[in-house]
Amino acid sequence: MKTVSSKPELTSFRERGYTRFNLSAEWNIPESKEPFIQLKQEFADMPMDHYNTKAHRYRRYSRGIILPWTNEFHWLPNYRRSDREWVCEYYQGSFNAEYKKEYRAFPPLSEKTKNNPLLTKIVKYDFEQTFWNQRTLTLPIHVGVHFVKMLVSDPLHESVASPDHIHQDGEPFTFCHLVERTNVSGGINLIATPESAGKKREEIQPDQIHEEFELKQPLESYGVCDRMVSHYVSGVRLGSNGNVAERSVILIDFLPTVLSIT
Ligand SMILES: [Fe+2]
Repeated sequence: MKTVSSKPELTSFRERGYTRFNLSAEWNIPESKEPFIQLKQEFADMPMDHYNTKAHRYRRYSRGIILPWTNEFHWLPNYRRSDREWVCEYYQGSFNAEYKKEYRAFPPLSEKTKNNPLLTKIVKYDFEQTFWNQRTLTLPIHVGVHFVKMLVSDPLHESVASPDHIHQDGEPFTFCHLVERTNVSGGINLIATPESAGKKREEIQPDQIHEEFELKQPLESYGVCDRMVSHYVSGVRLGSNGNVAERSVILIDFLPTVLSIT
C-alpha cells in the first residue's frame, strides 16, 4: 500500500489535523477477550441502512454526552416514532451532500453494547485527544456512535460509504476504529486537504493527499479534526479469499452543545 505524507515534519494531531493509532496494541487487548467479542457480535445482525439499499451498508447509531468537567459519559435515550420503531436521529446539516438538511433515523445500539466497558473506554480515549476552547467545555459534548458494516457477497456488487466522495463530516472531530476486515478489496482510507471535499479520489492532485492507508488490525484507528482535513473511504468489493467481504467499523464523533433561541 502506497503511503503518502505531505507534511512529515508535523506529527501531532493538533498540528496536522489527523491522527493514527492502534488501540489493541496500546491496551494489549486480545481479540479473544469478551468485550471485544461482544462488540463484534453487534455487527452480526446489523440492519441494512434503508436510506440506500443499493449501498450494501448496515448500521446502528446511538448518541451520548460527555461532561468534560468530570469526564463522565452517558448514553442519551432512544426515540420511539409514531410507527413504534425505536430509533436515534442523526443530522449533518449541509455537510452530507447525499442527505442535505435531512434528519436520518437509525436503529440504536443494543443495551448490551451500550454497557460494554470497552466501548466506553474507546469513547473516552477519543475525547481525550480532542482539543477545544475552554468555553465550549463548560457545556456537555454530544457524542455520536455509529456501527457501520460494509458487506458484499456478489463479485459484481460494491459497498459504498456515505457520502461516496471526499468530504468533511460537520462534527468537529470524528474517530474510526476497525472491528473486522475480511476478504476486502478496496476500503482504502484517504486523508486530504479541506479543499478536496466534494471531489472524487481521481479528481484531486497528489499534493492534496496527506495519506492513504488501510485499517487492517482490530481496533486500528484514525481520527480527524474536521476543519483541518477532508477524508474518504473507497468502496468495498469481494477479495479473492472467500465468498463474503466485510469491513466493520465504529465511528465516534464529537459535537459541542449549542444553545439556540429562535
Ligand atoms: Fe465521514
